Amino acid sequence: MAKKTIAELGDLKGKRVLVRVDFNVPLDKKTGAVKNDRRIRAALPTVKALLRAGASVIAMSHLGRPEKATPEERANLKLDKVAARFGELLGAPVAKAADEVVGPGVEAAVKALPAGGVLLLENLRFDPREQKNDPAFAAAIAGLADAYVNDAFGTCHNDKDASMVAVPAALKAAGKPRAVGLLVAKELEIIDGLMGAPKSPVLGIMGGAKVSDKIAFINALLAKVDHLLVGGKMTYTFLKARGVDVGGTRVADEELTAAQPLLGFVGSKITLPVDYLAAKSDDLSQTLVCEGSIPAGYEGVDIGPKTVALFAQKIGSANTVIWNGPVGWFEQPAFAGGTKGVAQAMADSKGVTVVGGGETAEAVEQFGFAEQMTHVSTGGGAFLAYVEGKKFASLAQIDEK
Ligand code: 3PG
Repeated sequence: MAKKTIAELGDLKGKRVLVRVDFNVPLDKKTGAVKNDRRIRAALPTVKALLRAGASVIAMSHLGRPEKATPEERANLKLDKVAARFGELLGAPVAKAADEVVGPGVEAAVKALPAGGVLLLENLRFDPREQKNDPAFAAAIAGLADAYVNDAFGTCHNDKDASMVAVPAALKAAGKPRAVGLLVAKELEIIDGLMGAPKSPVLGIMGGAKVSDKIAFINALLAKVDHLLVGGKMTYTFLKARGVDVGGTRVADEELTAAQPLLGFVGSKITLPVDYLAAKSDDLSQTLVCEGSIPAGYEGVDIGPKTVALFAQKIGSANTVIWNGPVGWFEQPAFAGGTKGVAQAMADSKGVTVVGGGETAEAVEQFGFAEQMTHVSTGGGAFLAYVEGKKFASLAQIDEK
């Protein structure tokens, strides 16, 4: 059944709308400055539409993992800098609530919020009740608003986060409406289309480090795609499991076990790189391109030039391409060629091209190809989980149309 969207929230003139956004953005480790504002930009259409409809917006998000942070790191996880960036991008002032997540200070800030105003609450995870679906915490947040919007696709898989589940439940109990925002609606429509009836041939591209983390995702893709290309660190797991000497590349035993059931697909449905760039472990500036085994003291850091050409040719002949996980250590400019080559080929493709969030989205943005993709998801873990077919408790809370 279709979920209620913001257009079905009724007359919003003078109403306060609580919008759960995912402003969990990468920060500069030293200064705490917002390094990439893609997730903030992605929430703007919903916020702007609500403001145009006459509502005021109370936005809320988590940022990082304050429960694991040092006091210094925690100070950088306050949402002041995010609020400032949000205001700049919105082109309107964004008030930032006091240090507490809920309480009298926040209630006063909400009362002072004019029609058409925007307020951002403090980092939800500063209150440990956020990650426990705490009903009292949820009721305090729900009491601030007349309606709820989930526009936090990147967090939709978190079923213990009060702001995603217990808060909309509390609004329902109070007879208030709950809808998905424009970003969540778009993400769901695109991924549903991808996993429903994609235009064939369908090509998957998998990268990243661990097969074990992505096994359910890989299996879901294998059921859908005509062909799956493998790159990234997981390449060396597959190679080692097939008896290839991977030199100094570290491959954990549990990774070999995880890859075992997939080995039967290699050569038919799964294509591994035909060459790779290896760097000397104690001097990364010394590199060589290998086919077959990697010499001792060297480790695999990227796909090689022949593989880039092979992958580009396969991407060019697919009508649908879905990509998750960098195919090399792209943060190091010398090892970014493979990931850039894949991104370039997808940007050149005339087919539907979808990029999973997290690091892959960052790479595509960094290389300047994001606008040329059909869709770059804002979800990392959420993208993987949704493609796997997991049902999200957060979305179950949203009213049906
Ligand atoms: C993400 O970046 O994947 C989401 O914001 C969820 O963050 P979390 O992994 O800290 O729950």
